[in-house]
Amino acid sequence: MTEPVTVRSIGTDLVRRDAWAKVTGTAPYAVEHPVRPRAYLYPVQATVPRGTVTAMDTAAAEAVDGVLAVLTHRNAPRLADTSDAELAVLQSPAVGFAGQFVAAVVAEHPEIARQAAGLVRVEYDRMAHDAQLDPDSSELYAPDSVNPSYPTDTLDGDPDAALAAAAVQVRQTYRTAMYHNNPMEPHASYAHWDSDGLTVYDSTQGVHVVRSVLARTFGIDAERVRVICPYVGGGFGSKGTVHAHAVLAALAARALPGRWVRVVLTRQQMFCLAGYRTPTIQRVGLGADRSGRLTALTMDVVEQTSRIKEFAEQSGMPARTMYAAGTRRTTHRLAALDVPVPSWMRAPGECPGMFGPEVAMDELAVACDLDPIELRIRNEPDRDPDSGLPFSSRNLVGCLREGADRFGWHDRDPRPRRMVDGWLVGSGVAASTYPVNQMPGATATIRYADEHYTVSIGAADLGTGAWTILGQIAADALQVPVEQVRMRIGDTAFPYASVAGGSSGTTCWGGAIVAAARAFRSRYGDRPGDGAEAEGTLPDNPERKHWAMHAFGAQFAEVRVRPDSGEIRVARLLGVFACGRIVNPRTARSQFVGGMTMGLSMALHEDSVLDPRSGRVVNHDLAQYHIASCADAPSVQAYWLDEHDPYVNPMGSKGIGEIGIVGTAAAVANAAWHATGVRVRELPITCDKLL
Ligand code: MOS
Repeated sequence: MTEPVTVRSIGTDLVRRDAWAKVTGTAPYAVEHPVRPRAYLYPVQATVPRGTVTAMDTAAAEAVDGVLAVLTHRNAPRLADTSDAELAVLQSPAVGFAGQFVAAVVAEHPEIARQAAGLVRVEYDRMAHDAQLDPDSSELYAPDSVNPSYPTDTLDGDPDAALAAAAVQVRQTYRTAMYHNNPMEPHASYAHWDSDGLTVYDSTQGVHVVRSVLARTFGIDAERVRVICPYVGGGFGSKGTVHAHAVLAALAARALPGRWVRVVLTRQQMFCLAGYRTPTIQRVGLGADRSGRLTALTMDVVEQTSRIKEFAEQSGMPARTMYAAGTRRTTHRLAALDVPVPSWMRAPGECPGMFGPEVAMDELAVACDLDPIELRIRNEPDRDPDSGLPFSSRNLVGCLREGADRFGWHDRDPRPRRMVDGWLVGSGVAASTYPVNQMPGATATIRYADEHYTVSIGAADLGTGAWTILGQIAADALQVPVEQVRMRIGDTAFPYASVAGGSSGTTCWGGAIVAAARAFRSRYGDRPGDGAEAEGTLPDNPERKHWAMHAFGAQFAEVRVRPDSGEIRVARLLGVFACGRIVNPRTARSQFVGGMTMGLSMALHEDSVLDPRSGRVVNHDLAQYHIASCADAPSVQAYWLDEHDPYVNPMGSKGIGEIGIVGTAAAVANAAWHATGVRVRELPITCDKLL
């Protein structure tokens, strides 16, 4: 067991500590910091998907009054490290995808920069390109590992033989679309160089990530880079890794010493420069006996990556852990295309990777004439099938049962095509899961002065509630009222914090704060004097060797479909989650409901349409890339079980930022089948597919 924190503030629904600053507009976002003197950058983007810049005419741009610099690969400062092709900005004439930066104009005003950028003339030697993911014609390869470092393939027994011999077989291909992270706050940076080094105000999920990447890229000590980000207007993973615009801001600032150079991606630029979720093609095989017990489970995934940089989404991961099956195989294969670089988007791996298997389970339930909840319960493993370890806690069955009660599943007629008031109405269920991740190194300091404990850690709050819940954890670890705790986060001037990714923030930063509080109390007890200070670093959790640690959930959806037009609406979503102790019900509910809404959006609306001829996403703005609005999500309810897990961390908490999106699209697709009798295996579920 990990030594638990005695809970007082943890578990209460404390109002967000940053709420007032946010609603009054006084919380500064990246490019709202009042720095001076400023300069404004606007980029020039490649118009071809693959090739070489052969000529550039910048004279007209340079002649515009107010232009300070026009940067190209010929005159831009050199970077020390160009090994990451996404970040090697303006270092060579090579073009790896449409939309890549090929030049940048810096000017006294943003409008001047934008106008002048439009005057830069670029000629290309265009090369043959491939921007279309096609499992039959694309050249596929096996990556060395999948994100972040899981095995590419797993094999247990002879699943092909077991599948061929199975009394009931489901063999289908499922597809998820290409999706783009669209946080409200665009990706943005202010960069400034002086004799001390580089300072960046950046919109990021990890100031220390940005610091280490910029230090490496520019070849300077990390101590000479300061990154500041107290508030983030969303990220969903796209701000968890450094993208080219941050390097471009720092590069331009280096060419203009003393200036704060501002780069803000436009919404359209975000569709090629800030990462996205790869489309996936999932060949799923389920073999079972007539009672629904799985004898074979196969999940073979094909995805795309960029030819200039590999990202291998771990979509086969959840199939490794979800269900007991006598034989199992998972594989990942990639096509390296001339497209923008894919990256993290909320629950990379688990989110797309639970679509195929959870729809296949619904198909198996129909084939076995079994309730889909009962089918899942029959295939509960007593240990993690992948690692062979027991689960530290696994309450999938509890979530399914409580969800069924709350949703009103029991009076469901399993036959499809029930008509109510002119709509076809159906309901569906799917499971969700997300691992309890831990990254090393997070460190916190606690300092006492003026009857307050100030906790400092370079953590990030992307709207998740970290400002608030880290204070609650500190208060309980210090055994003081939360009002006596002041938080400082989002600055590399504070101790190291791992990235806000993999739903690991609370585990990692909370664990560091608990360690610091214990050091503080053992040194000063209950009566510290002014200036008392202690530091603590997240310890290794030895329990991780003995237990498989995952959160689980059950998603229920009710959909309505117009029989004449195929118009589909999700009337209700209901999720029940088992995620350890909930640190703050208010902020937690927001995470679950947000994730579920994003899953609904993935199921019905979002779809990045890549034109293979141009290599560009053609619906690259919020007018054409529809994200679920309030009218699309009339009822989204999240509940959780009171789960006590003494092994995961001192708080007993599991990550909650991502699990809400996992399984949602499968629940909607399963409900769409129940409503219409049409099995849609390709997202998004649009009207045409239901007719
Ligand atoms: Mo999350 S996509 O790991 O930020």
